[in-house]
Amino acid sequence: PLPLVAREAGYRVIGFDSIGSTNAEAITAARAGEADKLWFAALQQTTGRGRRGRAWESPYGNLAASLLIQPNVPSAALASLGFVAGVALNDALSRLLPDVSMRSGVDGADGRIGRSAARIALKWPNDLLADGAKLAGILLEAIPRQYGHTAVVIGIGVNVVAAPQGLPYPAVALSSFNPAIDAAMVFETLAESWVRWYDVWDNGQGTARIIERWRDNAAGIGSEVVVQRSQGVLRGIFESIDDAGHLIVRDDEGQRIAITAGDVHFGTT
Ligand code: BTN
Repeated sequence: PLPLVAREAGYRVIGFDSIGSTNAEAITAARAGEADKLWFAALQQTTGRGRRGRAWESPYGNLAASLLIQPNVPSAALASLGFVAGVALNDALSRLLPDVSMRSGVDGADGRIGRSAARIALKWPNDLLADGAKLAGILLEAIPRQYGHTAVVIGIGVNVVAAPQGLPYPAVALSSFNPAIDAAMVFETLAESWVRWYDVWDNGQGTARIIERWRDNAAGIGSEVVVQRSQGVLRGIFESIDDAGHLIVRDDEGQRIAITAGDVHFGTT
């Protein structure tokens, strides 16, 4: 179910047990004229898609959610919605898996059991990590419109009960920290968190506040990174995220390079 705050803010949700891809479903709906504030949420995907043409595994019990939204802004501003989603997801999952520092020594004070701490962080451009392993990913797809504003689909996949196997990077599921969390709880927390952060982006302090928040929760600032781009591989130090959301890497010659698209690996290999 959609939490009250999201319903009050005008959101609707269409739920599925199993579907090919919630992003594909949302795009079809957009082409058929559906436009704003509509969530598609599924417990399983059979043809889930990831970034850069990759497949995304979503076995039964994980969360696949896509939001169809049509903000009244120039299309150049739309890419920043990926950061809104990242910040919203970071907050939602931090709430579900509070980390040690946030609990300030009052272990179990809220009465929840079977829980262990996790450090939640964002990894550029749009992954969510728990203790350094991938817990969730985001895929933004734009649907150009002939008339009116561009519709955007923000797809979010969260490993709730199972982490995909055989990936070139570590992955983890929420269940290994707290088996009591299910996909419905994640969706509700996420949908609520989305409303808050979208409001910041839309009405309040805008993209700058979102990027600042994203940067404050970024994993690996100051560490060595290897960035795979279409132009080739870049090695350097992950220095920051600039105000446009670009990854700033300092290379061996001390040159700062702003990266708009690529895959990041921490370390030197
Ligand atoms: C990535 O890290 O590569 C992005 C993964 C995005 C997966 C989500 S699950 C919901 C939505 N539907 C899809 O087919 N993909 C996104």
